[in-house]
Amino acid sequence: MNKQTPLPNGWQELVQSAREVRNHAYAPYSKFFVGAALRMTNGRIYRGCNVENSSFGLTICAERVAMSSAVAVGNTQPDVLCISLAGQPVPCGSCRQFLHEFNPELALLLDDCDTDAPPECVSLMELLPRAFCLTGQD
Ligand code: THU
Repeated sequence: MNKQTPLPNGWQELVQSAREVRNHAYAPYSKFFVGAALRMTNGRIYRGCNVENSSFGLTICAERVAMSSAVAVGNTQPDVLCISLAGQPVPCGSCRQFLHEFNPELALLLDDCDTDAPPECVSLMELLPRAFCLTGQD
């Protein structure tokens, strides 16, 4: 998206929401704090932050926490996801596959919270072409 273009309706709120929840990130090991705000097709927003663990492999990414929070209340229809961190955000490969399950065309807003620049907007399909999918394999 052209950096001069104003954000579409509601996206600024989503960025704000991702930045806020990032403050709750539990990342004592990496000190890499991530916030995610997920807007559903019905307009509801679910949030997540990364949660690390002494047993490093148990760490959960912010994106998967947000998506799982939505699923836990019966909502499986994400529309837009904002990821906020200090630096250049991109979802990890596991999160790409996890999100693909619910919407392969999910819009991603990649927010560098160290800047005032508008977030970059990409489609999940651009980041995960030829995703693994069980549907249609039988
Ligand atoms: N992390 C996320 O929350 N989302 C991603 O897409 C990439 C990585 C977290 C996991 C870990 O707590 C920290 O960032 C460093 O990898």
